[in-house]
Amino acid sequence: MDDTGMNEPPRLLHVGITYNVKHNKRDEEPNRPSIGSPSEPLDNEAEYDDMTTIMAIKEVLERRNCRVSLLEADQELPVKLVEHKPDIVFNIAEGFYGRGREAQVPALLNFYRIPYTGSDETTLCIALDKALTKRILSTYRIKTPKGQVITKEQNRVAGTFRFPAIVKPNAEGSSKGISDAAIVTNRKELKKLVLQDISLYQQDMLVEEYIGGREFTVGILGNGKDIHVFPPMEITYLHPNNPYNIYSYQVKQNYKEFVRYECPARISPEMEAEMTGTAKKIFEALSCRDFARIDFRLSPEGELYFIEINPLPGLAPGYSDFPMIAEFNGMDYHSLVWNVLQSALKRYGMQSYIDED
Ligand SMILES: Nc1ncnc2c1ncn2[C@@H]1O[C@H](COP(=O)(O)OP(=O)(O)OP(=O)(O)O)[C@@H](O)[C@H]1O
Ligand SMILES: [Mg+2]
Repeated sequence: MDDTGMNEPPRLLHVGITYNVKHNKRDEEPNRPSIGSPSEPLDNEAEYDDMTTIMAIKEVLERRNCRVSLLEADQELPVKLVEHKPDIVFNIAEGFYGRGREAQVPALLNFYRIPYTGSDETTLCIALDKALTKRILSTYRIKTPKGQVITKEQNRVAGTFRFPAIVKPNAEGSSKGISDAAIVTNRKELKKLVLQDISLYQQDMLVEEYIGGREFTVGILGNGKDIHVFPPMEITYLHPNNPYNIYSYQVKQNYKEFVRYECPARISPEMEAEMTGTAKKIFEALSCRDFARIDFRLSPEGELYFIEINPLPGLAPGYSDFPMIAEFNGMDYHSLVWNVLQSALKRYGMQSYIDED
């Protein structure tokens, strides 16, 4: 209220978008090895966003009368934050280098005390480390495939494994390093692939027992009493002669050719309750905020396995799983992005910018 007793209209909300965009590095650095060469994996920039995603988020925010600053999360980000001083940041930045890279931008935003959407640095650090997440969740009795980490330093395969097994980089997303070739059926193949991947991805590898059966992903939006768990979305593989059905980088890029999505998935009400309940438990156990997507496999024996969690799920319109789940449930892209921002505003108590229900 102002001194006249009238409600003062809130000033425009200034939202910064922090992001990392896909560049074709070869244009900028002609001497850099070409992507796909033995020293540079084909999916090197898989986790970064296309400019179209950043512009789609910007458009949503501008249509809602926000002032938007695009803040590419490069090494100049601290300067940009000080110059622009956004009221809140819509963060989709993946960060640069290392196991904690997704935490870099949230940590910086906390350092400058700038509110932001999504999970904080601790959650993002933990969730990017698949083995650590599995270890934490096992204390909550969440079932996850048996696994073992082979460290970069160790660089040798020791111990016993159950085959078939899947070999994946321990700290990646977007199916980076995961294809049908990630399945190994004996120790010799395992050894060869682990050593090859350690050298290619320069990080620890997680070897997990392969879980056959059906694949699902569950989206969550909101916090506390406002939490909304979407019904599970099933990813059905279209090529029945493919023995392992891996939701690989190649499949994700050409999803129309390889998979069909169904949401709500055709499962029993009991299984749906188990899956959504487990997803919510995981979201809360890891102190996620605003939104996240959790991947599961349901074995032919009917056992539900947690595969991994994405507290910074992709938001590419018409491509990423999370916007697809929202769309299936009558929430268009615009509403999804706006709801993520609204969840964060509520958390920070930024009342004057919160829509009335
Ligand atoms: N233990 C497993 N058993 C069977 N399939 C698996 C297993 N682990 C991973 N997969 C397959 O590989 C895909 C990618 O694995 P995962 O979700 O761990 O990778 P990601 O890169 O973190 O994915 P995202 O794009 O969701 O971030 C899964 O969707 C699933 O199809
Ligand atoms: Mg996944």
